[in-house]
Amino acid sequence: MNIIPLNKPCITGNELQYIQEAIQLKKFSGDGVFTLRCQQIIEQSLQAQKIFLTPSGTDSLEMAALLANISSGDEVIMPSYTFVSTANAFLLRGASIVFVDIHPSTMNIDENLIEKAITDKTKAIVPVHYAGIACEMDTIMNLATRYSLFVIEDAAQALFSFYKGKALGTIGDLGCFSFHETKNYSCGEGGAISINKKEYISRAEIIREKGTNKSRFIRGDVDKYTWEDIGSSFLPSELQASFLFANLEAAKGIDIIRLQAWNLYYNELKPLKDEGKIDLPRQPVGCQHNAHIFYLKTENLDQRTQLSQYLKNQGIETAFHYIPLHSSKMGQLHARFDGEDKHTTQESEKLLRLPLYYDIQDHEVERVAQAIKRFYA
Ligand SMILES: Cc1ncc(COP(=O)(O)O)c(C=O)c1O
Repeated sequence: MNIIPLNKPCITGNELQYIQEAIQLKKFSGDGVFTLRCQQIIEQSLQAQKIFLTPSGTDSLEMAALLANISSGDEVIMPSYTFVSTANAFLLRGASIVFVDIHPSTMNIDENLIEKAITDKTKAIVPVHYAGIACEMDTIMNLATRYSLFVIEDAAQALFSFYKGKALGTIGDLGCFSFHETKNYSCGEGGAISINKKEYISRAEIIREKGTNKSRFIRGDVDKYTWEDIGSSFLPSELQASFLFANLEAAKGIDIIRLQAWNLYYNELKPLKDEGKIDLPRQPVGCQHNAHIFYLKTENLDQRTQLSQYLKNQGIETAFHYIPLHSSKMGQLHARFDGEDKHTTQESEKLLRLPLYYDIQDHEVERVAQAIKRFYA
């Protein structure tokens, strides 16, 4: 039986050629030609002011926390339905985490519940664009302006997704992307940060280079480099960047295949949704997602377990996603859930991700959809 995996890391065919070029250039450390090429592609596609590659989405979030001067006693608002790095980045700076419930239709933070969670300690809001589907950014940005808060978009899953014509990751003060092998475009482990305000660009450059002004030295702006700020090593090597370049260069083609598969899943499974047997993701009006994840929602946890086992027996891999952070040991120690957990836990227990990858074929999507229909018949 052919197994349909949940994910396949994206390989476009040009990776080895670019890695070889990087080797021939004899410049393996960060900020060589491939890093610059990747940054340029992203800057142009997103119309972003400044993109820096980083070694991971986690690093991008940690860099964002440093740039926002998050420190002990600050509070940072985010959904509990997210990856641990969203919270860890701020916890590492001494902040406490404040979770807010999600919309069941998108699994994104409920923007209408944020204001109630704001206190005089609140420093930042971190919207997470789950599955590449946009949070309600207008409301979030208005709140941030009214209360003078940072907005750091966790766009780990949302590169090349849009909200009302604006690229996700470029709307808040800072945006964080991931190139982990599970993402649409990857280099195994990798990330990027979008600096959306001019005044943060030069500090970002310093924080990313271990707190030194080495980038200015390399450009010839200063005759030696020194320790100027706190910082860390937030540069990926050229070997990673050369692999990533092959993926980014092919991004438009990858998006077309992923979107076709996403739409095919949706159309095949819509009759089950119309019968009230399952639920499907919803894309808010005016947004364009990048087909990062396709999921369905079962009636409850038991049914999800049965469906996932049924599909496994048919050679189809599926996965659930985050266990809400507030229910974890760390969540209980370092965070509070503001208001009622009406949807976060309940919806997280219903969600089942279906296979989706860069070269998925229509017949594979159809095989998955048929198996799901048989289960519900
Ligand atoms: C929402 C979210 N934030 C942050 C990350 C961290 O990214 P990385 O794995 O590149 O460190 C991920 C990765 O899966 C993610 O899904």
